[in-house]
Amino acid sequence: MPFELIPQKLIYGGDALGHYQGRTVLVPRALAGERLEVEAMRTAKGVVHARPRRVLEASPDRVEPPCPYFGRCGGCQYQHLKPELQTVAKAEILRETLRRIGHIHWDSEIPLHAAHPWNYRNQTQLKVARQPDGRLVLGFFEHESHRLFPLDVCLILSPGLNAILGELRSTEWSARLVGCQEIELLADHQDERVAVTLRGSLNPNEAEAIAREMLARLSGVVSVAVETGRELRVFGEAALNYSVGDFRYRISPGSFFQASRFLLPELVAAVTSEESAAALAPDSDRQMLALDLFAGVGLFTLPLARRFTQVVAVEAAAISTADLAANAEAHALRNVRAVTATAFDFLRRFAQSAPDLVVLDPPRAGVGVRALKLLVACRPRRIHYVSCSPPTLARDLGYLLAHGYELQGVELFDFFPQTFHIESLAKLTRRDGTSP
Ligand SMILES: C[S@@+](CC[C@H](N)C(=O)[O-])C[C@H]1O[C@@H](n2cnc3c(N)ncnc32)[C@H](O)[C@@H]1O
Repeated sequence: MPFELIPQKLIYGGDALGHYQGRTVLVPRALAGERLEVEAMRTAKGVVHARPRRVLEASPDRVEPPCPYFGRCGGCQYQHLKPELQTVAKAEILRETLRRIGHIHWDSEIPLHAAHPWNYRNQTQLKVARQPDGRLVLGFFEHESHRLFPLDVCLILSPGLNAILGELRSTEWSARLVGCQEIELLADHQDERVAVTLRGSLNPNEAEAIAREMLARLSGVVSVAVETGRELRVFGEAALNYSVGDFRYRISPGSFFQASRFLLPELVAAVTSEESAAALAPDSDRQMLALDLFAGVGLFTLPLARRFTQVVAVEAAAISTADLAANAEAHALRNVRAVTATAFDFLRRFAQSAPDLVVLDPPRAGVGVRALKLLVACRPRRIHYVSCSPPTLARDLGYLLAHGYELQGVELFDFFPQTFHIESLAKLTRRDGTSP
């Protein structure tokens, strides 16, 4: 049965939340304060999940979603909201998540860094699936499902990656991709050179032929990796180079790198900034130590190495650590030590006390109490926590604030406009002072 709903707010994940007959209702593609006709689809843990049928009175913040696939493709959640207001809404969601999960009442300003709202993604994973008529198609998963949604163009992908998507959609290419389940594309900072990774169960001889053909015929493709089970073979260039500010990063297939191309210099500056180093070392003779605990290929490690006497970069994936060590070497940064380990295992053995700065940039799962306990015991003076998940950030900050740290600032980097994703940076200092 359809019913009317006036949602009160947007929540993390992209839905709007309202109430009907004493029940909480979540509805996608809706905005706070507008009147909608919605229909209940399912109820889980007492919460009604509804779909919007009609907008009866639209919010003044609503815009026409420019993408014809919006609502069916699972990639975007906010195309119906003015881009400049998306960032504001995300800041409020972040603030509320900190309060609800971490019991942190952050009433100060959250500075907002907004990216260009379209064509920002420099990385994507296209799914490959066989249609009932036998044709292979490429696309993304549909909203809340593992059904593939074929598409010709994606408005948040960079122009270079859209060009490749268009070419791969041709019947000629798709006929050749039998056995391939996923195609990952990563473009460089100029959106000119592209690394491709093919995953699935491709026949090895056929895979090599496809890889060589991609190198010869797909615009911008300079490297093709074929990942079958545990085996990885790379054709063309062994890695992609990506520049951010003064630094150039080698990224091998399998290494992590950021997926949005516009705000990276701002994020790197905020995490590694001069003032944080200067504030830490009023006396310039002191040895300064920084730890970068989820370091990837060294996005933050290299700039930190220009400001700190020593930087220890810890990364769980050996392929990324190898890139990181090569990236430090290429910039003659001999004060970087690259360690392949989980943050937890590294901290268990770490004997030096009181690092001047610890940078945390964990995956969605966050750092977790087990590792935070060890971190707090080594008494870092400052912690810069980069997060892609407000709920785990709130949990982790809750722990840090209860164990001697003070929140100095929270910033929001809207790397992924049109989507519900929220990237933020929280800066903390140890409560018993920052002087040596
Ligand atoms: C969000 S990425 C950040 C990487 C890097 N800071 C950057 O911005 O490019 C998280 C990184 O942590 C690594 N990782 C995942 N779990 C880890 C763990 N338990 N300990 C250390 N590194 C981990 C991943 O391989 C990935 O490179």
